[in-house]
Amino acid sequence: MAAPLSFAGKVVLVTGAGGGLGREYALAFGERGASVVVNDLGGDIKGGGKSSAAADKVVEEIKAKGGKAVANYDSVEDGEKLIQTALDTFGRIDILVNNAGILRDRSFARTGDLDWDLIHRVHLRGSFQVTRAAWNHMKNQKFGRIIMTSSAAGIYGNFGQANYSAAKLGLLGLANTLAIEGKKYNIHCNTIAPTAGSRLTQTVMPSDLLDSLKAEYVAPLVLWLCHEECQENGSLFEVGAGWIGKLRWERTLGKIVRHKNQNMTPEDVRDTWDQICDFTNATKPASIQESLQSMVEVLSKVEDGEGIRANPTSAMASTGSGINPTEAVGKVLPQMTFSYTHMHCILYALGVGMSSKDPDQLKFLYEGHEDFSCLPTFGVIPAQVSMLEGGLSSVPGLSFDPTRLLHGEQYLELYKPLPTSGTLTSKASIADILDKGSGAVILLDVHTYSNQELVCYNQFSVFIVGAGGFGGKRSSDKAVSTVPAPNRAPDAVVVDETSRDQAALYRLSGDWNPLHIDPNFAAMGGFESPILHGLCSFGFAARHVLKQYAGNDVSRFKSIKVRFVKPVLPGQCLQTEMWKEGDRIHLLCKVKETGAVVLSGAYIDLHEAPGASVNAVPAEAGGLQSDLVFAEIGRRIKDLGAELVKKVNGIFGWEITKGGKIAAQWTIDLKTGNGALHKGPYTGKADVTLTVADEDFMEVAMGKLNPQKAFFAGKLKVRGNIMMSQKLEMILKNYAKL
Ligand code: NAI
Repeated sequence: MAAPLSFAGKVVLVTGAGGGLGREYALAFGERGASVVVNDLGGDIKGGGKSSAAADKVVEEIKAKGGKAVANYDSVEDGEKLIQTALDTFGRIDILVNNAGILRDRSFARTGDLDWDLIHRVHLRGSFQVTRAAWNHMKNQKFGRIIMTSSAAGIYGNFGQANYSAAKLGLLGLANTLAIEGKKYNIHCNTIAPTAGSRLTQTVMPSDLLDSLKAEYVAPLVLWLCHEECQENGSLFEVGAGWIGKLRWERTLGKIVRHKNQNMTPEDVRDTWDQICDFTNATKPASIQESLQSMVEVLSKVEDGEGIRANPTSAMASTGSGINPTEAVGKVLPQMTFSYTHMHCILYALGVGMSSKDPDQLKFLYEGHEDFSCLPTFGVIPAQVSMLEGGLSSVPGLSFDPTRLLHGEQYLELYKPLPTSGTLTSKASIADILDKGSGAVILLDVHTYSNQELVCYNQFSVFIVGAGGFGGKRSSDKAVSTVPAPNRAPDAVVVDETSRDQAALYRLSGDWNPLHIDPNFAAMGGFESPILHGLCSFGFAARHVLKQYAGNDVSRFKSIKVRFVKPVLPGQCLQTEMWKEGDRIHLLCKVKETGAVVLSGAYIDLHEAPGASVNAVPAEAGGLQSDLVFAEIGRRIKDLGAELVKKVNGIFGWEITKGGKIAAQWTIDLKTGNGALHKGPYTGKADVTLTVADEDFMEVAMGKLNPQKAFFAGKLKVRGNIMMSQKLEMILKNYAKL
């Protein structure tokens, strides 16, 4: 067993040692070899009167046990005198226990000046005076141990003890600073909050408890803290009944309430109150440096536009998530502006695989092109700024680990073609939050404006893994839904290579996530190598459709919706399968090499071809007879397509009129692949376009009206390659049997 703790050679001053706790300390020190100065004014508990008897009695007790002790009868307010007694008698001062105390309990309203002042003079000022008198001696000898005596009343508050609580917690503040200033001189200062039966507590404790809570259960802690072996410094302990516990400060992760360039308001504080006060994953700052460091980090985070959630010194340690739809839904994120030039449009076009090899694509790559255009899917770029700059986690009620965020779905709608340069402003808000059990889905609506004009609308659907189970709803009428592709072979398929540097190129458009470039980062996310951005595949698929069905005419693009399913590795081939259903092009995007689906439930809506809308009525209106014939033509093409393509080798556009207005448009493609029938306006260039009334078309189809005759009679209008119309017979032959 280690040697008992000895205080031989040490000089100890215990204030208020004439009774209670102080007496116990003095006796214990004396027993273990210390020379003890027993100070006590010998007054009553309220600070009245004085007497030497109390101190003398304890000195005698120590001496009777063979110890060394001297009495001092001064008030602690005369600190110098107490220290002088130690110096005069024993030549030094090593250990100081600030223990003297009185009580003047009153309810706060009745606390008078004297009640306040006396308490502060004895406890706080007295401890200050004695300690200051000892300080330089301890400093010079490079050793000192100081105890401050606080109280649970100071730590927690207690009815009727406003004056006492204030002074007692003041002692803790004093000790905290002395611990810092004394450290390099081996002066340690600790604080205790004791509980023991004494004359001070006899009015507030029942007598049997008073007897049980012995002062001798407190003294061992004081002795250990004052021993030269003990390195504890600047700490606070509760002690009593044989139990000792250490206390420290705890701080919530907190919440950054302020946003760059915005006023911080009391409403912001009110709205984030729960997060400010949530002790989940709380931190334990132990120094003013730690505290200040957090503040400085907050300053730079706010400056970076990152309205983040937490106390930054420990934010990384937090994996906890708190999703509160009631608080978050409807919240508006900080407004974002995005300025760009033609360079950004071109960079984006290259990022989604455009190449000058294809002359069709030059209009997206060359600012000097007569029809220089910005790709419609560039519309996600200004909007994503709201998401990427930490805006989501600044929303009250959205506390989550950003590394668990997956981009689930995307919807983009354009209200006009995107300008090729300018400044756009995006306003984002939380449209809804869904609880999917395994995670939470956050729907973020972003409206992007050029000046006051709405240019596009995005809906980001993000999945927070592991953040579900908060008892929320599973679906929302705010969500733009995916739509499955038709259950038939695709109408068109485009295969396109992504380059080895596709992600490296795409990220220059603003999504700098290292997952797409840094192999180590990708490995941490469980990927073999960096992956392509989902929105890059999205851009590829959209331009495939734009070319196939809208002749790269950006004014035809209305909207796109996709669900992100699996990642693509840069260098893999993307295969976009398309189904045309009127103005809607369904699409499915796969990795050609593996067959893995990349985008599903996806579609692009196109605006009608220019001119088609003039006098147009919905195709469904009035139920056209010609629909039946076209349905049959579609079946025939499926059966005999290859043969017909060989014989006809032409594309026929049809405009079916009713009451003088175009009621339906059809395309019979007997030129590409195995042939196809599309309903809706033809987006490319048909070899021949025929305009005919619904009823006349039936006459022709039934064999009752010869096409040539109809032409000369003005019932059939033909544009384009008139000779091609002669091959119509091959298509319409035998429809009389319908
Ligand atoms: P106590 O009343 O038995 O001892 C305090 C001693 O301080 C008395 O002997 C008194 O004469 C002396 N004193 C008062 N004013 C003085 C002055 N101006 N100069 C020199 N000596 C003076 O009380 P107890 O219970 O032993 O208290 C000791 C310390 O512990 C006090 O600071 C008290 O506030 C604190 N404390 C005690 C608790 C308990 O449960 N006993 C609870 C929390 C704190």
